[in-house]
Amino acid sequence: MPSMHTQNVECARDIILGKIGAHHPKVAVILGSGLGGLSDRLKYPVSIPYRELPGFPAMTVAGHRGEVVAGNLNGVEVITLRGRTHFYETDNAYPLKTMIRTMKAIGVETLFLSNAAGSLRPEIKTGELMMITDHINYMGFHPLVGPNDDIFGPRFPPMGDAWDPALAKKLKEAAQQQGIPLHEGVYVAFRGPSFETPAEIRMAQKMGGDAVGMSSVPDCIIARHCGLKVVGCSCITNMGAGLSDEKLSHEHTLENAKRGADNFEKLVAAFVTRL
Ligand code: HPA
Repeated sequence: MPSMHTQNVECARDIILGKIGAHHPKVAVILGSGLGGLSDRLKYPVSIPYRELPGFPAMTVAGHRGEVVAGNLNGVEVITLRGRTHFYETDNAYPLKTMIRTMKAIGVETLFLSNAAGSLRPEIKTGELMMITDHINYMGFHPLVGPNDDIFGPRFPPMGDAWDPALAKKLKEAAQQQGIPLHEGVYVAFRGPSFETPAEIRMAQKMGGDAVGMSSVPDCIIARHCGLKVVGCSCITNMGAGLSDEKLSHEHTLENAKRGADNFEKLVAAFVTRL
């Protein structure tokens, strides 16, 4: 008897495949805070609210709409996920697992992760993009804790190439071609929901981090576990706490994400043609 989670994935897969018809996306993009505009760039869009998909996240945070939009970006079939679970909202990883494993079940091979993040380096400035080359899970949380769902992946998935080097190369080439500055670095995930203290930011710098945020790491782990390749970038919305005198807030994050959103959308559009 398949678990409720497995049934949700199969049911969501059938609903999505039934609705997106001729689209056969091989790449899915999870859109971070303030970066949802990419789904408005899709041609021939088909959108499905998460509430119609069993087990998908219920959205609670402003800036996250909660819908799947499939369509054509620059001649390439893509599927975008607007909104995701954050682990400052819940301990339950199943909504995020359902969303990502459903992407695998519909035939997606590559997951593009995006987020809003704080910079840990003076040369990585607000409004700029940073390709994620690796991560540090500092959330005190792991999405695969609990019985392993063997049908999706192994108990002990390796993370040596969590952020795929070949895809990273393609993302860099896309940025160069578009003339978009693209930093590279390690993303440190804190659980939130508070922003970090200046002391925590100094610790994150010493640990080897280049940007901090509250997402994407669980997504990456779930995706690698079920065999999806992962690539992604952060849109820098602020300097980490104590590195400048700006006051951090969610509104500030959303406002500043707009400064990077245009380059982000161009970058993803150029990237998908290289897959
Ligand atoms: N810290 C954590 N998450 C964030 C930040 C930050 O400075 N900026 C945007 N998301």
